[in-house]
Amino acid sequence: MKFLRYLLYVIGSVILFLLCTVLWYKCTTHQQMIAAHQENVGDAEAYYEEYCASCHGSKVREFVERDKWVYGSSRTEMFTVIKDGADVDGMPAYGEVLDDQQIYELVDYIMAAIEDKKQEDFNSGDNNDVVFKSEGMNLKLELVADHMDSPWGITQDSSGILYYTDKSGQLFSNDLKGNHKQIEGTPTVKYRGQGGMMDVCLHPNFKENKRIYLTYSKPHPNDEGLSTTALFSGVLENGKIKDGKDIFIAMPYETTSRHFGSRLVFDNDGYMFLSVGERGRRDDYPQKLDNHLGKILRMNDDGTPVPSNPFYNQEGAMKEIYSYGHRNPQGLCYNPDSNLLYDHEHGPRGGDEINLVKAGENYGWPVITYGINYVGTKITDITHKEGMLQPERYWVPSIAPCGMDIITSDRYPAWNGDILTGSLKFNYMHRDVFDENGKWVKEEKLFPNIGRFRSIEQCADGYIYFGVEDPGKIYRIKSEY
Ligand code: HEC
Repeated sequence: MKFLRYLLYVIGSVILFLLCTVLWYKCTTHQQMIAAHQENVGDAEAYYEEYCASCHGSKVREFVERDKWVYGSSRTEMFTVIKDGADVDGMPAYGEVLDDQQIYELVDYIMAAIEDKKQEDFNSGDNNDVVFKSEGMNLKLELVADHMDSPWGITQDSSGILYYTDKSGQLFSNDLKGNHKQIEGTPTVKYRGQGGMMDVCLHPNFKENKRIYLTYSKPHPNDEGLSTTALFSGVLENGKIKDGKDIFIAMPYETTSRHFGSRLVFDNDGYMFLSVGERGRRDDYPQKLDNHLGKILRMNDDGTPVPSNPFYNQEGAMKEIYSYGHRNPQGLCYNPDSNLLYDHEHGPRGGDEINLVKAGENYGWPVITYGINYVGTKITDITHKEGMLQPERYWVPSIAPCGMDIITSDRYPAWNGDILTGSLKFNYMHRDVFDENGKWVKEEKLFPNIGRFRSIEQCADGYIYFGVEDPGKIYRIKSEY
């Protein structure tokens, strides 16, 4: 009896297993067929030449050179017109000579050519209906402003007004309905080399206190040859900054016109983080705590150092220092959900980095780096050292990162937690994906050839805005298509 029941169990399990296998096989082959239809263009190029070229042009690229598809440009519409023809217009029916699979291959071949064409149009400036696909999301770009040369910093208030700087020394507001205005009362900048008007940021309670912040390269009051990174703040009233003054000036001033760093972000506690570059003096500043250069700084909203800062009580150290050993951090972003702060910084030749910024840590420049000197000589042999933090990811060769944000907006659910970085050199946007433990997983390159990136900001309305220079343009990434 017992044995019989056991036998029944075994037979039952075997049948169940067989059933599942058959079902699974059916499902996957069906899926593979769909996928094959979508991605496999097989010998489409050959069929095109044989059957279609005589009427539609020797290359498929000529065929897709039309503004409007009379019979529709979706997969099914194209499939139908090729299979059944369009007698009235003189398009033959190919259902007799080509099987469905071959017709789908032709459709996909034509559709790929349409995408290529859009990409080319996009590169030449006409990008209104280019759809970019990323992680299942359809994205389009919308030009928001193009009256400036280099939009270095972007932000937005809760009423939807966009604020942005132009590196040459101006600050603008824009109602996103086609009107922009220059804001008065901004500081005089030293517009030279990598310096000028840089980041713009609003106080977390901007709605009530109207406090606005600007970072810029400040000329020395008594010596034209010197400049430094400074933080300016005032109250925005009727298109003018009132009572504006420097609330922080990085020390010391330097003669070079490079590596100002200069990003500003607020965290959940209302503290400000400011990145300052080492001004091209790698042996003098980043590893020493008696100066502000090559550092990430943490301050209260009035520019005073936070008493719990790691070196606040250390004699001879600057009280504002939060982390050190940085080169030129032109990107800084904060994730309010995870409370994590990231920077990115330019390496020398190779060795651009994304770092997770932590209190009191040393990020190693110039003792450790993955880069080499511009002329090709070595800076150092080592990439690791005890007591110096490793980057979360690095780029060799360099992409020249500028602009950065971490995405938490509901408008881009598939990008949640991803870091966007602009590339000045390769003119695209970089997306880096990290897992829950902060480990780098993968990357994607977006919007090829769009321009030299300067700024990326997830703004108050949840949209991502970004700025490119020469020519200066600000785009909004729309995700609802
Ligand atoms: C004898 C000439 C001729 C041949 C060969 C031919 N077509 Fe056409 N086709 C036409 C004409 C004419 C039209 C309608 C006018 C137009 O859109 O150019 C048309 C329309 C189409 C359309 C719809 C275009 C739209 O605007 O909606 C598609 C898609 C198409 N053809 C695909 C093909 C494919 C694929 C082949 C080869 C398998 C092919 N055609 C071969 C003449 C031809």
